[in-house]
Amino acid sequence: MKRFVVGNWKMNGRIADLDDYFELCDAFKNPMVDVMICPPSTLISRMTNTSIMIGAQDCHMAVAGAHTGDVSAEMLADAGATKVITGHSERRTDHGETDEMVAAKTNAAWNAEMQVILCIGETEAQYRAGETLNVLKAQMAASIPDGANAHNLTVAYEPVWAIGTGLTPNLQEIADVHAVLRAELVKRFGDEGAGMRLLYGGSVKASNARDIFRLDNVDGALVGGASLKAADFIPIIDAAEQA
Ligand code: 13P
Repeated sequence: MKRFVVGNWKMNGRIADLDDYFELCDAFKNPMVDVMICPPSTLISRMTNTSIMIGAQDCHMAVAGAHTGDVSAEMLADAGATKVITGHSERRTDHGETDEMVAAKTNAAWNAEMQVILCIGETEAQYRAGETLNVLKAQMAASIPDGANAHNLTVAYEPVWAIGTGLTPNLQEIADVHAVLRAELVKRFGDEGAGMRLLYGGSVKASNARDIFRLDNVDGALVGGASLKAADFIPIIDAAEQA
C-alpha cells in the first residue's frame, strides 16, 4: 500500500508561512508516497496545484444554508481540497462532535466527492483503564458510514493523550491496535477494508517516524506540530519513503 503522510496544521498558518510550504513542494516534486497538508480553510485556495495534496480539517454536514461560521464540503472542494479530516479529537472535544455527527460529516464529504481521513482515539483515562480497543471499536462502528471503501476512507488512530504531548504508545502497542483495527475493517468491509489506509497520529516526529512506518498495518501518519515547518516535516516524509 502506498504510504500516506498527512500534515494537520490545525489553527496555524498565515499567508506569510507559504514560502516555507513552497519549499516543501520543491523538496517533493515527485514524492514516492502520498503527501498532504490540511491547512486552515483560509489558505486552501493558495496552496493547490502542487505535488502535495491539500485537505481540509473539518466540514459541515449540510451542503449549504444558515450555519454561520461553518464551511461545507462542497465549498472546500470548490476551494481545491480533495480530502477532509473528520472526527478529530479536538473537534470532538472543542465542539462536542459525536460519532453520529462524524458519520454525517463523512457522508457529506463523500457526497462532495471528497475522500475522508476519519480519526478515532482513546483518552488517557480510557487507556489507563484498559479500554482502548473497546473504545476504538465502538467509535469505528458508529462513525464510519456504510459505503466506506479503500478509495474514499482512511482511518487515523490518534490516542488523545499522545496529541501534542511528546508521548506515544510503544511500538508494540501501536502494532497491536492497528492489527485489531484492520481486522475490524476487514470484518465489516471485506477486501475494501483490507485496502483502507490506516494512519497513526500523536507526537510523530523525525526521531520516531521510521520505526512507526515499519510496523505492520501502519500505512502512514497524521502529523500535527511537526508538519508546521518544512524542515521538520521533510525528514518524516523521507522516513516514509525509506521505511
Ligand atoms: P501532534 O503531532 O502535534 O501530536 O498532533 C497530532 C494530531 O492531532 C494530528 O491530527
